Amino acid sequence: ISLKAYNTFGIDKKARFFTRVHSNEEVIKALKTAKDKYVPAYILGGGSNILLTKDLFALVVKIDIKGVQVLKEDGENIWVKVGAGEIWHDFVLKAIAHKWAGIENLSLIPGTVGASPMQNIGAYGVEIKEVFEELEAVNRETLSVEKFNHSQCQFGYRESIFKNKAKDKYVITHVTFKLSKKPHFNISYGSISNTLKKMGYNQHDLTIEAISKAVIHIRQEKLPDPQEIGNAGSFFKNPTIPEKHFQTLKEEYPDIPGFPLEKGVKIPAAWLIDKAGWKGKTFGEIGVHKNQPLVLVNYGKGEGEAIKALSEKIQKDIQAKFGISLQPEVNFV
Ligand code: EPU
Repeated sequence: ISLKAYNTFGIDKKARFFTRVHSNEEVIKALKTAKDKYVPAYILGGGSNILLTKDLFALVVKIDIKGVQVLKEDGENIWVKVGAGEIWHDFVLKAIAHKWAGIENLSLIPGTVGASPMQNIGAYGVEIKEVFEELEAVNRETLSVEKFNHSQCQFGYRESIFKNKAKDKYVITHVTFKLSKKPHFNISYGSISNTLKKMGYNQHDLTIEAISKAVIHIRQEKLPDPQEIGNAGSFFKNPTIPEKHFQTLKEEYPDIPGFPLEKGVKIPAAWLIDKAGWKGKTFGEIGVHKNQPLVLVNYGKGEGEAIKALSEKIQKDIQAKFGISLQPEVNFV
């Protein structure tokens, strides 16, 4: 079957076999079937962080595990267990409706709940690791269900154990979040407080709903809607470079932005790609987005191979111009 509807880049590649699973048991069954038939299993969530570059001779297992279940609560917090197949943004809206705080800054991120810990999704000053309690996953080798607590997930910037040591070894089936009944508003990220003002909110009537609306507004202004233009959000990670390197670049480019970290300086990849002249460039069916150059886009009939080639050209150019190596954030399949 065609996977076009199952990846937000809208790439038209095929899967040899395809199945949907709704529970841990069905995940295990699908993995067994794949093993028995000697075909690899490929686990698919929302398909919002992948670039398909070829047809998959595999059993594609689409995770459709649903459910939002309150496990326990106290005066401060509420623990909610969510099926990996729930749409992330729908869960955010549900949390806001219940006045469960902590993920309002993560509004409108494409993809599913199961993928959220995988790359520790983050936006507007918040990362999933701040509200993560634990997750449940099926071990693909032993077919047993295992739990991972916070430290076992080894979260980092767009990183977790599931992108490193445990890559392709587990199927995440449920994620438990610890949300807050008393909101701690986080409006430190650049444009949020301005947008709130512009939308008519002031410091006194700040709510998680208002923050969510501001984030949605900013994202809709900057980021292409995958329903209209195929994309997978940021294509590259923001690189961190040594302080010394930053100072050298600053002499040549006095306007280069940089955020000092404990070790090194984080540079917005969007700035580098913009400065190198790629912003808004179109190459037939694909291109670099006109408002957010960190996002590569497919205007319709674009090929995964072509997007991959474009990304490599950009990487080479950024390396040549700034001496910085950009790492993809998107997974190539
Ligand atoms: N910039 C430019 N030119 C542009 C756009 C941006 O120079 O055309 C520079 C500016 O200096 C701007 C800076 O890039 O201040 C940062 O831009 P933005 O606020 O859009 O954030 P980002 O660093 O490009 C990251 C995440 C996004 C997330 C936003 C907001 C990564 C790889 N990306 O982007 O996440 O939504 O911050 O928090 O960390 C995603 O991962 O798919 C994603 C969209």
